[in-house]
Amino acid sequence: MKVLVVGGGGREHAIVDALSRSPQVGRIFCAPGNAGIAGLAECVPIKDTEVDRLLEFARKKGIDLTVVGPEAALAAGIVDAFRAAGLRIFGHTKAATRIESSKEFAKVLMSRYDIPTASYRSFTDYREALDYVCSRPFPAVLKYDGLAAGKGVVIAADRSEAEAALKDMLLDASFGKGKVVVEDWLEGPEFSFMAFVDGEKVYPMPLSQDHKRAFDGDKGPNTGGMGAYTQLPFITEEDEKFALDNILRKAAHAMAAEGCPLSGVLYGGLMKTRQGIRVIEFNARFGDPETEVVLPLLDSDIFDIFNAVASNAVCPGSAEPAPLKWSTDVTMGVVLASKGYPGHYEKGAGIEIGESPAGTSVYHMGTALKDGGLMTAGGRVLMCVARASSLEKARTAAYGCVGSIKCDNLFFRNDIAHWALK
Ligand code: AMP
Ligand code: GLY
Repeated sequence: MKVLVVGGGGREHAIVDALSRSPQVGRIFCAPGNAGIAGLAECVPIKDTEVDRLLEFARKKGIDLTVVGPEAALAAGIVDAFRAAGLRIFGHTKAATRIESSKEFAKVLMSRYDIPTASYRSFTDYREALDYVCSRPFPAVLKYDGLAAGKGVVIAADRSEAEAALKDMLLDASFGKGKVVVEDWLEGPEFSFMAFVDGEKVYPMPLSQDHKRAFDGDKGPNTGGMGAYTQLPFITEEDEKFALDNILRKAAHAMAAEGCPLSGVLYGGLMKTRQGIRVIEFNARFGDPETEVVLPLLDSDIFDIFNAVASNAVCPGSAEPAPLKWSTDVTMGVVLASKGYPGHYEKGAGIEIGESPAGTSVYHMGTALKDGGLMTAGGRVLMCVARASSLEKARTAAYGCVGSIKCDNLFFRNDIAHWALK
């Protein structure tokens, strides 16, 4: 089989890595890919949102299955376009991607189908939004209703912070004209629950936890994620079952009932509050960096599940995926990011990757090759992932792997998995 993976970050490197273990997969292409992915797949210089060019490439190469990583490609309608052309593709339609791309759509869905989340109201008018925020306790959570590259959420500690954020989102329309969802602030540990979703069928993946803040001790600005691990001691089996039945399965049912069934990955960004598990956000795709710690644990052939979901989306019941088998090992991964990220940073610093300890892999998030040398090409650059029988062993190996990387423009957090290890 010829498979095309769309995207070029660490998530796609982990997807390509999993596909490369499938005996059914002959050739893998990745658009645009990166320097690490190039070791496993043929990289194609087409951007993830260039739907027409990707379609033309897939047709010309006779691609059997396309797998989409980033939300921007899904929101650009790549799945609709490929299916209309009769090509098999794993990912949600544009309509189904609204569960991520529109905060308001997701909130309305959750309230209609009784999926537990923070209560909210949405606004287009600056004055009304500000009056509402000031009538509620602070901090206030303000979410821009659209894709804003992870920058559309502001937790305002007081009136002046709320004013500034609402002005930015509604009056100056920094991310484009739109709405703002104002929701209650919740408290508790956050975790990520991803599943493959085939209409109303939900195939859960192991739980993981991301570290969103840039610096140790969960300090500093929000990032795309600075590290992740699996096996969360603060989430019980009962919590996991609750989340599967009352959040992921209900959301799959809700989307099917609304006429936009899911056919890809559903990611629940969840929080364990004192009142129970609540949804913070849904994403319509694999999380990044969560995928880099979750997919290495899949002992089944990932091609089967991608293929079944993609086939059933156009012809229900045409494929039955084999039950997914997951290793009981633990994984953890540390992200190395360019100094200055998530703010301004320089690209083009040279990188040398030395001998990595046993049980570790280095996933490339933002790298490029120039004159045969590896260099930084993004905010998040590399992720060192270790797999072991315990979290302590995985941590030692993951930081050992970090130590094997030489680059003078990278930083990383020293406390990944601190929630589980303290
Ligand atoms: P989101 O993009 O919706 O995941 O929000 C980004 C981050 O903001 C989340 O990972 C949380 O840490 C925080 N956040 C979002 N919504 C809430 C909420 N209702 N209460 C507390 N924190 C929140
Ligand atoms: N790690 C968070 C995300 O992928 O949105």
